Amino acid sequence: MSRGSGDPGVRGAAGPIRIFDTTLRDGEQAPGAGLTVAEKLEVARQLVRLNVDVIEAGFPAASPGDFEAVQRIAKETKGVAVAGLARCRDGDPQRGVEALLPAERPHLHLFIASSDIHLKHKLKMTREEALAAAVHWVAYARKALGRDAEIEFSAEDASRTETDFLLRLYEAVVDAGATTVNIPDTVGYAIPSEFGDLTSRVVERVGSGAVVSIHCHNDLGLATANTIAAVQAGARQVEVTINGLGERAGNASLEEVVMALRTRATLFELEQSRVQTEQITAASRLVSNLTGFVVQPNKAIVGRNAFAHESGIHQDGVLKNPLTYEIMTPQSVGLSGSRLSVGKLSGRRGVQGKLKELGYDLEGDALDAVYKAAVALADEKKEVTDEDLAALADQRLVEAPAEGSAARIALGGWTVTSSDTGDATGSVTVLLGGEPHKAAGTGNGPVDALFGAIDAAVEPRFGWHPVLVDYEIRAVSAGEDAQGRVLVRARRSNDPDAEQGTATGHGLSTNIIAASLEAYVAALEKLLGEDAGIGAPAARRRSL
Ligand code: KIV
Ligand code: ZN
Repeated sequence: MSRGSGDPGVRGAAGPIRIFDTTLRDGEQAPGAGLTVAEKLEVARQLVRLNVDVIEAGFPAASPGDFEAVQRIAKETKGVAVAGLARCRDGDPQRGVEALLPAERPHLHLFIASSDIHLKHKLKMTREEALAAAVHWVAYARKALGRDAEIEFSAEDASRTETDFLLRLYEAVVDAGATTVNIPDTVGYAIPSEFGDLTSRVVERVGSGAVVSIHCHNDLGLATANTIAAVQAGARQVEVTINGLGERAGNASLEEVVMALRTRATLFELEQSRVQTEQITAASRLVSNLTGFVVQPNKAIVGRNAFAHESGIHQDGVLKNPLTYEIMTPQSVGLSGSRLSVGKLSGRRGVQGKLKELGYDLEGDALDAVYKAAVALADEKKEVTDEDLAALADQRLVEAPAEGSAARIALGGWTVTSSDTGDATGSVTVLLGGEPHKAAGTGNGPVDALFGAIDAAVEPRFGWHPVLVDYEIRAVSAGEDAQGRVLVRARRSNDPDAEQGTATGHGLSTNIIAASLEAYVAALEKLLGEDAGIGAPAARRRSL
């Protein structure tokens, strides 16, 4: 990569901070956040609209699904670097190189643990052995991907690594061809002053030989603070995820880091990002909907309450001048706050324009489907809001059958009766490969009874039944006629891998029973896709 003026990466050079988004790799490692290849591609498209610099698309050696996701994103996304993660051990870097070859700008991310606790207990290696492996695989990657590729090296658990060894390790990998060295605070242990000092020492040691990157986890709620401290200390790449998704308590969140740099621009004149911040809300909503990880209402920047003012004094101030209580505008993160009325007479073009404002660039069949659904919804509820429209657009993405496959399971019809004693009886017709199968079920409520009926319909055919792991329901917008969005997580009863084997389904309807059934059937479709090797969550990894 050339380091000319305007390129991110060199300490003190004018130019933006490089935003390395790892939602599709570290974010997807959050238990239960698994995405199919098609869903990962959709997130990658939104990351392109956001204008991040690097998309870490996955861990190619981890599973065939992850390999395919990285390779397809490498092939299909332009104008952005695509990264894949690999351990410094035989097999991983080769898979990483293979997956990244179609990329316009390949970025291989190699890592090995460097702290004594990881070396002794996890890798059973000495420091010198780890250093030799790192140098070997960095040199391999440089040769395999060529002079212009970005080769990043991460010292896992860097913040708990003995500093002299860490510096020696970074120096050695830069000599072997690494162009970025990353300092992960893998277990979220660091505090800002300490992490800033460590970053300064790395920046000083590698000089202009490599971009210094940082990667912070949020175990102590300090990921964003540590990231900002590192930027102040000279880091020129930040590794972040949408909504702070990630292992355990998550990673530093893209929206917080980017908006901190932008809102305090006088402190960060040289360190702005190229992110189109108006795309943040759409990205947040998409990732939340696809992973099923609901954003907490008081989450900075993208929480439902981030721009809501409850107390009279605050409301009064904001009405007089928004700057009294708002340090950034809702519009700057893509919240329009407007309301759209969609009715029978609404035009397709108007709906397309509104979708565009909300971050959805739809045309052709995709636009038709959302337009028809919006007009149909306008028959059922008084007002179709921005939230409703975005939910319809997301629903089209999440429940589209995986490319090249027809639906393996669909709902033919259902009836249910329930009473105030709590008992319910239901029956369903399930279409399996187009063939109807009828079954009945009982339960402690209508949804329970109908899920039981679906289980009874599929079990004789597959030899397993779905096990409900999680069920969530929330209203998409306000009002008694609001649409309910249901998320279901389910796994197969015969799956030994209870955590990685879950599939997520979403349903959307003004009728919550219909939304629940839609979500359950969508999760089942994914579980069946796994059997067929299609559309499976890319996160189903062999153990690493
Ligand atoms: O947290 C971590 O250490 C990582 C590395 C692989 C960069 O995710
Ligand atoms: Zn991480």
